[in-house]
Amino acid sequence: MNMKTVITGTGRYVPPKVVTNFDLEKIMNTTDDWIVQRSGIRARHYAEDGVGSMALGLEASRLALEDARSTPDDVDFIIAATLSPDQYFPGIGVQIQAGLGCRTIGALDIRAQCCGFIYALSVADQFIRAGTYRKILVVAAEVQSHNLDYSDEGRDMAVLFGDGAGAVVCEPSTNGEGHSILSTHLFGDGRFAKVLSMETPNSAKNPSFSAETFEKKLYYPRMDGKRVFINAVERMPEAVQAALSANGLTIEDVSLLIPHQANDRISLMVAQKLRIPVEKVVRNIERYGNTTAASIPIALDESIKTGLLKSGDLLMLTAFGSGFTWASAVIRW
Ligand SMILES: CC(C)(COP(=O)(O)OP(=O)(O)OC[C@H]1O[C@@H](n2cnc3c(N)ncnc32)[C@H](O)[C@@H]1OP(=O)(O)O)[C@@H](O)C(=O)NCCC(=O)NCCS
Repeated sequence: MNMKTVITGTGRYVPPKVVTNFDLEKIMNTTDDWIVQRSGIRARHYAEDGVGSMALGLEASRLALEDARSTPDDVDFIIAATLSPDQYFPGIGVQIQAGLGCRTIGALDIRAQCCGFIYALSVADQFIRAGTYRKILVVAAEVQSHNLDYSDEGRDMAVLFGDGAGAVVCEPSTNGEGHSILSTHLFGDGRFAKVLSMETPNSAKNPSFSAETFEKKLYYPRMDGKRVFINAVERMPEAVQAALSANGLTIEDVSLLIPHQANDRISLMVAQKLRIPVEKVVRNIERYGNTTAASIPIALDESIKTGLLKSGDLLMLTAFGSGFTWASAVIRW
């Protein structure tokens, strides 16, 4: 039988601390007006000191497993997406495996930044369709707030990001082609690597960390916001079009679009370019900020739990981020 992948459970977890734009006004040179006008963000969640991506990912994973009526013992493989692992190595995949108390299964970390979740979902889909694994936990988790530059130099980025995690459980479909992942499309262009990146830790530098690292603040992420914006609004629609043509679908067939929540202006422009009504576009960045790889699974879980996404709907996911990378996935829900 032609095996297909179905998502059998979802979960999301954000740390309890809410940081509004007005809170940011008190610690940095910014305003609520600037942030709302440029990004649509009003608040985001920040993890406390001592809480990293692994801890958030663990909570989201527990909820996704519960939702899939599964136990950690049932999981055959873990794929974790993050650009903010607790440690440089090992990745958070094995740490979540240990935290859940899984068997000695494989655990893979994906480093595709804001596209991390769709990349991870695509890898899971290949393993399921090949018959290699029967229950894969895909988790995306990020704590960016502990390493943002709140000075004027880094304020363009600092106001955008929030912390959070989302997870899904992938299994072989039991009803053929219905309710399954129809396709995933992954793209990248490393020529843009420096447009949105963090220079240190850097294995090409000896020593990797030096006084210069601290003086020049090379350990903070940096971006050329305008170039990111221009490319994001081109690449996400391209990824969606690739998905539509591969499946013989049109944009009218799409019930719900979940774009990576990078910036609400980007999401609106993507909707406009695709000619999809904004009511069909999930936009929760106002409350979470940009949670990098976690933004899509957080929005997915929220859409299911609030009844926005219904059985039989055609769901389109798309993302764009550092790399550059961009991607899409189509799912018959
Ligand atoms: C970052 C971004 C919001 C900036 O918006 P923009 O419209 O390009 O910014 P503008 O050019 O209008 O404004 C820049 C000015 O605002 C200032 N500024 C930057 N961050 C600020 C902040 N947080 N608060 C107040 N002022 C800020 C700059 O210093 C600059 O001032 P200047 O004109 O006096 O030099 C926008 O480029 C963007 O969203 N890019 C994509 C970012 C993204 O999605 N990244 C993640 C990808 S996954």
